[in-house]
Amino acid sequence: MIICHCQNITDHDIQSAIDWMRAADPETLITPGKIYRALGKAADCGGCMPLFLGTMRKNPNLQVPMHLRRLRGGATQENDPCKATRKSSTT
Ligand code: FES
Repeated sequence: MIICHCQNITDHDIQSAIDWMRAADPETLITPGKIYRALGKAADCGGCMPLFLGTMRKNPNLQVPMHLRRLRGGATQENDPCKATRKSSTT
């Protein structure tokens, strides 16, 4: 099924690109932009993005590696707050 009509990208192209990127680098964060680049294309109108993302989410290889999931979480920042955080919490 065609997902991106501007660039003629199918659901199979997206799944294959995700599988290839995950096999090449188990720690990579896979984004739509990286998929376009892997396919040698670039997004045009962006109208396909909801369907593009939905197709990406169907691939089990899309998951963020477990050890990278807490990078945004408070555990690291709570244990070692940056200077700005420390300064604002003391004033
Ligand atoms: S339909 Fe995908 S960029 Fe336009």
